[in-house]
Amino acid sequence: MPHSENAADTFAAPPPAILVLGGTGRTGSLVAKKLAERGLTARTAARHGADVRFDWDDPTTYAPALEGADRVYLVTPVMRIKFAHQVAAFLDLAARANIRHVTYLSAYGADLAPAEVDIRAVESDLARRNSFSHSILRPAWVMQNFSDEHLPIIGGAITVPTGGGKEAFVDAEDIAAVAVETLVEPDAHAGANYAPTGPQSLTVAEVADMIASVIGRSVVHNDIDPEAWITGAVEAGFVPADYAVMLRWLTGTVIAGKGARPNNDIETVTGRPATSFREFVQRNANKWAFPPPAV
Ligand SMILES: NC(=O)c1ccc[n+]([C@@H]2O[C@H](COP(=O)([O-])OP(=O)(O)OC[C@H]3O[C@@H](n4cnc5c(N)ncnc54)[C@H](OP(=O)(O)O)[C@@H]3O)[C@@H](O)[C@H]2O)c1
Repeated sequence: MPHSENAADTFAAPPPAILVLGGTGRTGSLVAKKLAERGLTARTAARHGADVRFDWDDPTTYAPALEGADRVYLVTPVMRIKFAHQVAAFLDLAARANIRHVTYLSAYGADLAPAEVDIRAVESDLARRNSFSHSILRPAWVMQNFSDEHLPIIGGAITVPTGGGKEAFVDAEDIAAVAVETLVEPDAHAGANYAPTGPQSLTVAEVADMIASVIGRSVVHNDIDPEAWITGAVEAGFVPADYAVMLRWLTGTVIAGKGARPNNDIETVTGRPATSFREFVQRNANKWAFPPPAV
């Protein structure tokens, strides 16, 4: 066998990876990118287009995704309310693998989430486990809702029920930046619970004005009746029927004047202030551009 001074290096195990569930999504893709920029090995996982195939509905995909990883960014299945049993099965495997830390993407005010929604159940599950540490992120409504398919501008209006209430919308970039710090220095953030928010509480009418002023077109808020909006979303097939409870909670919180309020968690964790909505709109102005004219 040829000998080389670098033989130990040649056969050394690769550094542990950080498994990024939801790795093609809004926060997961940014978490993976930022981890790579910090020189760490991020392994994205999703059903399509990620480094490894991971499907919450296919438990045979859990162990291969965990292999060789020592930290996890946990994004639970989207657009559903029942997932605690799947997350528990995954965390059981994580506990038997070499996982030392899990950062969970929860939601603002998760302690007040309806009992039917499994967000609190997952937080409690993590709190009970002692084979790895965890951090919880409870972000406000994400600014990107307005630049993607969640809250599109249709006919010059953003249609969502808020009763004129305010929310401290947060940039997904900032959520990812907080997540990355918890994954890079897990010991410093073990047991921490952060609620990333933007720097201002805004009504959707104020958001519409801000988008309008940057893109140079009229945009208004259509503050629709909540039940009409929820029924419409279910009937159009945007969400399953049982997800109505989640939509009712999210919008009802803002309507009741209890939307997210700005805090300093992003600056405390990352050392940088949270992105303002105006900065977000300026950075993403092309997302609201008209389709190019047909030639
Ligand atoms: N929107 C908000 O304002 C807001 C605010 C606070 C918290 N949150 C929470 O944020 C979470 C969503 O995170 P995000 O916005 O970063 O992601 P996202 O953009 O919604 O993308 C979802 C990611 O999860 C993957 N995924 C979806 N279903 C899956 C399944 N059954 N099995 C495996 N992977 C699956 C998707 O890829 P594939 O489809 O290819 O699998 C994608 O990578 C939700 O739990 C939500 O409650 C959202």
